[in-house]
Order: sequence, then C-alpha cells, then structure tokens
Amino acid sequence: MVKLDSRKLKTTDKSINFARNDFPILQTQMNGQPLAFLDTAASAQKPACVIEAMNDIYKNNYSNIHRGLYNISQKLTEEYETARAKIARFVGAASEKEIIFTRNATESLNLIAQSWGRKYLKKGDEIIISGMEHHANIVPWQLLQDQIGIIIKTIPVLEDGTLDLEALPNMLSTRTRLVSAVHISNGFGTINNINKITEITKEFNPKIKVCIDGSQGIVHTPVHMQNLGTDFYVFTGHKLYGPTGIGVLYGRYDILETMPPYQGGGDMIERVSLEEGTTYKEPPYRFEAGTPAIVEVIGLGKAIDYVQTIGIPAIQNHERKLLEYGTEKLRAINGLKLYGPENPDQKAGIFSFTMDCAHHSDIGMILDQCGVAIRTGHHCCMPLMHRFSIDGTARASLGLYSNADDINQLAEGLQKVRKLFA
Ligand SMILES: Cc1ncc(COP(=O)(O)O)c(C=O)c1O
Repeated sequence: MVKLDSRKLKTTDKSINFARNDFPILQTQMNGQPLAFLDTAASAQKPACVIEAMNDIYKNNYSNIHRGLYNISQKLTEEYETARAKIARFVGAASEKEIIFTRNATESLNLIAQSWGRKYLKKGDEIIISGMEHHANIVPWQLLQDQIGIIIKTIPVLEDGTLDLEALPNMLSTRTRLVSAVHISNGFGTINNINKITEITKEFNPKIKVCIDGSQGIVHTPVHMQNLGTDFYVFTGHKLYGPTGIGVLYGRYDILETMPPYQGGGDMIERVSLEEGTTYKEPPYRFEAGTPAIVEVIGLGKAIDYVQTIGIPAIQNHERKLLEYGTEKLRAINGLKLYGPENPDQKAGIFSFTMDCAHHSDIGMILDQCGVAIRTGHHCCMPLMHRFSIDGTARASLGLYSNADDINQLAEGLQKVRKLFA
C-alpha cells in the first residue's frame, strides 16, 4: 500500500485543495473545531457556484416553466431542458428523452417498480437484488411482492464484503424478469462489477431488465449508459454536490415508451377530456406530473458542470489516495474493525467500522465533539448489517473536497474514543 502523509497529499493535489475553498461550509467550525465533514455518502456539501446559481434564479429569473409565454418563463424552461441534456451527456444516455426527473433515487426506484413492474410482472415472476442493497432498492420490490406476488431472490454477500457473482448464473431462471443491484454500496463502499452483472444477465436472457442503483456510483466513478448496456440507472442529486429534492431515472427509451404513467396530473398529458379520458405525453414528460423541482434541476446541472471542471477521474484518483491513507491510519487503531473489501480497486471512499470498546453511537458523539461529522447506524442497509451480525457501523465517507487533515482529525478523535472507553 502506498505510504502517504498529509503534506504530500496537499502538495500533489492542488486543484482538489483549491476545490475545498469552493465549499463555504468547509470554512466553518463545529463545536469549536475545524469542520471535518466525513459524511458525503449521506449527502454532499454544495459548492458556492450551485448555491449562487439557485439563489440567482429565485432573485432574478424565477417563474414556472413549460407553459409561460413570457420571457423569464421561456428562459427558465430553456435552462431546465438544457440541464436535462447535460445530464444525458454526463451519463452517456442515447438522448435527453431518456432522463426523467424525480425527487430522489428512492422515487426513481419506486417509479420503476410501480410503472414498469406493475405492467410487466405477474405472480410468481422473479426479480434478483443483492444482499447489500439500500432499503430504497429493497422496499419498492417488497411492495410489489405484497401487491402482485413476485418472488425476490438475493445475491449473497461474501465475507470480504463483495458480492458472490458466481452465484448469479444459477439464480437466473425462466421466471427472472429483472436484476436490480447497487453500483457502489453506501454501507461498506464495495464497488460492484455492474458490467459483469449486466453481461451475465443479458447473456442468460437479453429480455431480463437490469437496473442499477447508482446513488453512490455516479459520484465516484465515470459511467456511460450506452457502454454499460443497463436498462435503468438511478441516482440522487444531493450526493452529487447538487441540491436536495431532485433525482434522476435513466431509462432506455424503447422501454420507457411502453411504460404507463407513475403519477397523474398537469404537464404529463396530451389531452384531458371528461368524456373520452386522457392521453399522455411521450417520455420523459409522461413521468413528470405537476410542477417539477425547477430550480433544483438547474442546480444539479450546475453541480455537474462543477464536477466536470475537476473531472470524475481526478476525483477518483484523489479519493483513492485518501482511501489508502485513511485505511492505514484506521488500521493502526487498536480494536477497530474495518468492513468491506481490502482491495482498494474494489472499494470507494467509505470507511465503515466498529470498535471493540465503544458502540457506534458513542463513537459518533465523541467525534462530533472533535469537529468530525460521520454517520452511525445501519445506513439504510439492515440486511447487510444482519449478514455481518452487527446492528450498525460508524461510517466516515469521502468527497472531492476531503483531505488528509480530515482523516487525521478522524484518527485523533478515534484515539480519544479509545482513551475514554477502553
Ligand atoms: C446506495 C443508495 N441508494 C439509494 C439511496 C437513497 O437516496 P435518496 O434518499 O436520495 O433517495 C442512498 C442514500 O443514502 C444510497 O446511498
């Protein structure tokens, strides 16, 4: 493993340390200490350019979109649709018509389950998820299980925190209709081989749909839908340095075209008649009922511009160095157990750990006093925690703005935990 120290990271990653100044909140303190924000997997901080762009709309350019004939409404409509096209390019979609705006990844998955699932699945049909899914990629399918009687199978998680993909071919059957798996686990940081998942599935039967929960994946690795060959890919804006309240569902257009609306209301219709019923717009508008999150969509577009000025590969490289640095630091703490793969090629910037001397809630509270923000608990991955017979972990997660000082502050805080509890 590469040896790194805090000074070396700073000097080799000037652009990243410069980027840190773009985030106003990172210049503040928490409990009288510099804020070491290590909870990006839960939600990322926002760069000033995103905050300012959104403020600017509310101050100078706000109106509803799509239906206004006046100047500011038309301008904002154009900005909104430009953001859609930008997101389509960012994820390598074939067209902007494949990008549906939702509230978050959770809503994107519920949309697939309730629109595609209710149309295409019958009692006894099988879907396959994995044992490391976020609840957002479990519960929507369990709702369908209750509503229709589908069967849910689960790809097992191995002891090293990776998926047992060798098991997948034997789990596929003539009843399998969908495989839905997480790209990067928010629980342990495991990077799943989604190309392999897609390949195995499509080789068995190209008609089986593949859905990827990219909520963490899109933040840490480049993605390209046309190269990947997945049918659906979902993510949430607030983890990608954008605002809350905006999520994305990428869907292959020929599939979206056949799916019924998820919700009904304004903006998604062609014609409404009390006598003859209603006809619906084409995707993506068919799935965007009501006034959308206009300012948030444009804010997400700005966040993507921002991320692209640094570049996902540069972010990946920076986070990789920090992951190796942090792993070494945490391994040096007595009684600390790290979960997830040891191989940094298989892991994104997430340190999920327990300590033999203290419960994860105690760890979180002590770290708070040290200015270190981490998350504790099951991370909405109860089945994953259950698999490892734990009720939760302490989780420190990296973002593009993280640096070695954050890690050092975390390690010092953990030494304090040891002193207090051991
Ligand atoms: C892997 C993964 N999937 C889904 C979600 C749900 O995201 P949201 O709450 O924004 O819908 C999260 C959020 O933590 C996540 O990490």
